[in-house]
Amino acid sequence: MCGIVGYIGNQSVVDILIDGLHQLEYRGYDSAGVAVQCGEKINVYKAEGKLENLSSVLIQHKKEFTAATLGIGHIRWATHGAPTVLNAHPHTCNCGSLVIVHNGIIENFKELRAELEKKGAKFRSQTDTEVVAHLIAYKYEELKDLTKAVREATKEIDGAYALCVMHNDEKDKLVATKRNAPLLVGVGEGEFFLASDVPAIIKHTKRAMYLNDNQVVTLTREKMVLTDAEGNILPQKVETLPWEPVALSKMGYKHFMLKEIHEQPDVIRNILVGKLHSVDEPIVLNEVKLTKETLKNLNRIQIIACGTSLHAAMIGKYIIENFCGISVDIEASSEYIYRKTVTDEKTLVIGVSQSGETADTLTAIKQAKAKGSHALIITNRPDSAMAREADSLIPVSAGIEVSVAATKSYIAQVVSFYLLAMYMAEIKNSLDSATLTSLKADLIQIPQKIEQILSDKNDIKECAKKYSGTRDFIYIARGINYPTALEGALKLKEISYINATGYPAGELKHGPIAMLDESMPVLSILMTGSVYEKLLSNSEEAKARNARMIALTNSKDAKLNDLFDFIIRVPEVSELLSPLIAMIPLQLLAYYIAEYLGKDVDQPRNLAKSVTVE
Ligand code: M6R
Repeated sequence: MCGIVGYIGNQSVVDILIDGLHQLEYRGYDSAGVAVQCGEKINVYKAEGKLENLSSVLIQHKKEFTAATLGIGHIRWATHGAPTVLNAHPHTCNCGSLVIVHNGIIENFKELRAELEKKGAKFRSQTDTEVVAHLIAYKYEELKDLTKAVREATKEIDGAYALCVMHNDEKDKLVATKRNAPLLVGVGEGEFFLASDVPAIIKHTKRAMYLNDNQVVTLTREKMVLTDAEGNILPQKVETLPWEPVALSKMGYKHFMLKEIHEQPDVIRNILVGKLHSVDEPIVLNEVKLTKETLKNLNRIQIIACGTSLHAAMIGKYIIENFCGISVDIEASSEYIYRKTVTDEKTLVIGVSQSGETADTLTAIKQAKAKGSHALIITNRPDSAMAREADSLIPVSAGIEVSVAATKSYIAQVVSFYLLAMYMAEIKNSLDSATLTSLKADLIQIPQKIEQILSDKNDIKECAKKYSGTRDFIYIARGINYPTALEGALKLKEISYINATGYPAGELKHGPIAMLDESMPVLSILMTGSVYEKLLSNSEEAKARNARMIALTNSKDAKLNDLFDFIIRVPEVSELLSPLIAMIPLQLLAYYIAEYLGKDVDQPRNLAKSVTVE
């Protein structure tokens, strides 16, 4: 996380940096700062909190940087040290001549700090980043060359980093490097841009070069020089980015989250185009590069993901096992990477990620690939680091998701799993054609049914108002909707800070039932099908402990009126596709509760959209 930007050219640098940081706000918003070459010195401006606070600081100093055309900027998601002005980037060496911004984590910062302090480095912050500023400055004293100093310093650093560096003794230069964190160079006419991600530069140029690990790039207004860790000059792979600048607008909605929830019917329709032509034709999924023979003989799949993407993966497991009879293991990426995993060339590994940059998932994918597994990536960012690792790439095409709480990307991931599972089932001949036909017909109907939910949200709003005062919330479900319970609870936690937990309903009696009393809302995701009656009994058990019972259901069953205090109704849907319908009211419920509580819906505290630290 954190976002970094840099610019060298002839335009007013501060405007470019601030606009770039604005595009990267999804990566963090704990503090922001810029460093600008202002004549004979580098000026640093910082502010705690969101970017708008930095903009207010800059207005007061406008005269100092009107002619400035070189600088770097940073938006922070705090790892080491509280989100204060002192800990905000850019960080400098003792005399302020060398200035850096950093995204990542320096794992050996304590050891480095102790050594640097012995040499006379004066630390002002609690960050891991400041050690890098002092370290490069000491290297610079010896080498008198910024590029060499950066290269030598990084040899002593353990961890992940993307770094942009400037020095007052080399006024017309920016140096940047990276390891296990994203960084790209935008190439313009007589100007260069540096950024953690495409949206920060796309307005200015579509020509860009992604840096690989341990490469160092030196930028002047005239040219860019790319070198490897030994200082050898490397060829430059400048590519044309497949992106158009998009004006991110809320389109009249109060928050991006609400807009993105409403985009879901069209997101599904877009995914189905070209893949699901008609109920009688096979699914087309040319993105899967495994041969039919390999797919037929596949007997094991691992799906790796984090957060909301992990919940989509859990539904993926359920349907792949159900449709294809292949055993699927699911794992949180952060757990996968620190144990001896049993993965080999016969295992298909699926990585799921909205951003395609999540550090834990990226590392896990690289780990699995190193053991010979085929990596199939399901992501909303076909230009991401994870996509570049993919042997097969399924872009979910949900469009840019701005709100930190994932909604449309989740639904898009789940739909992609349905298509993948049906595609494999057709190749394996593991599902009878009548079931496949009716699944396809139902899937085509889903967008319309979601539109029905979105067209009348009054019950959900009322429910949100009624339960917004609660401290805790329990979601229960069984079978294919257990991940829906987890995702519903995650949405509520993320944006309202209510302590919400999802349970498989059968587990309630093994412990969580002890928490139930008249203050506890229990929301039962009661979709008709194989586990309906079981879940009804579990709901009765909760009711018997005086819990405040809410049902989310597609059932017309009259006895629900006695059992539940509040009922949210959704359209008829088959059990196997019900997660696509059940999730929508839960996203809305979380949204309206957060909105009712006056929370910062699109940028909830402590979170970032793209988590690029392990
Ligand atoms: O970009 P990814 O899908 O890999 O991100 C994984 C999680 O960080 C993400 O889903 C997170 O849980 C969201 N805030 C969910 O709303």
